[in-house]
Amino acid sequence: MIKKILIDGSPCGKCAQAEEILKKRGFWDRIDRVVIADEADINSEGMKLAAEKNVELAPFFIIREDNGDERMYTRVFEFIKKELETDLSVNRSFDISLANEKFASLSPIEILSETQSAFGEKLSLAFSGAEDVVLIDMASKNGLPFSVFCLDTGRLHSHTYAYMDTVKNHYGINLEIFTPSPDLLEPFLKEKGMNSFYQDGHSECCGIRKVEPLGRALKGREAWATGLRRDQSPSTRGNLMYSEYDEGHLKKDGLPLVKVNPLLDWSSQQVWDYIRKNEVPYNPLHDEGYRSIGCEPCTRPSRPGEHERAARWWWEDGTIRECGLHLK
Ligand code: ADX
Ligand code: SF4
Repeated sequence: MIKKILIDGSPCGKCAQAEEILKKRGFWDRIDRVVIADEADINSEGMKLAAEKNVELAPFFIIREDNGDERMYTRVFEFIKKELETDLSVNRSFDISLANEKFASLSPIEILSETQSAFGEKLSLAFSGAEDVVLIDMASKNGLPFSVFCLDTGRLHSHTYAYMDTVKNHYGINLEIFTPSPDLLEPFLKEKGMNSFYQDGHSECCGIRKVEPLGRALKGREAWATGLRRDQSPSTRGNLMYSEYDEGHLKKDGLPLVKVNPLLDWSSQQVWDYIRKNEVPYNPLHDEGYRSIGCEPCTRPSRPGEHERAARWWWEDGTIRECGLHLK
């Protein structure tokens, strides 16, 4: 997408509008690059492209195929219709662009209810043993079928293990637990020891303890719901949508699962207001200063004033604090 900055330095309104439309329809993550055409700088990459393609309108969109073929659009709706909807909506029964438009005016419990109605027991809630318990509470209140899974990495806090049983008993649900594959874990531990993430980074361990088991947890499902919220991490979660196709997890027919994030717009405060108002059982670690809870060796209590994810993998660069479950 080529986006303009006006001569006085202000952003182009039409470009912002097009960006909003793409985001609302769940297509934003399909834009590979945003190139800026700065009217005050004819040498900016976007201005050079506009001159080369003889385009005066902004924004405009260029599709480049691997074989070098190019197509160009100056109208966002034409771009969506010809390039995005054909691939994403027509061939797939749950239309995420329609769902996202609808979900934007619904509450989390309503979003979950719509998703439960669409998928029934083929929908699974991903419960991490933390404040995302509100999803279980909401799903139970909807009275519609669903299933819940938890990825037991083997390194969770003992409080979290106890809490998982509390939740299971409180809601009378069958909490499915998935553990790491010994075929992957044992050679990894033999080679690198128990705590290699402090030196090598967390992605290999998370890959074995979380990402691979997630694939098994989603087998036979058509959709999953998470407790992801935009406010958890503006850098990695700021562009999330209410629903998306999860191209990393495919159904038997080869089409992707649908991933739904009903709590997307909620702040941490709203989550906690809900927990208190509805007397939802919560992980006792939250009373010990933990805000975001993951594995025991990789989570510390939050310090006053710091962002909640600063307490996860705190020894690593702030921009990569994602375990891989939600990376595209
Ligand atoms: S993580 O990527 O850093 O681990 P985070 O802890 O913020 O994620 O959780 C975001 C959402 O991912 C949770 O609300 C939950 O839906 C899912 N999730 C994270 N960890 C687990 C887990 N161990 N088991 C099941 N779902 C999980
Ligand atoms: Fe391993 Fe830490 Fe990732 Fe847990 S959070 S899977 S212990 S690296």
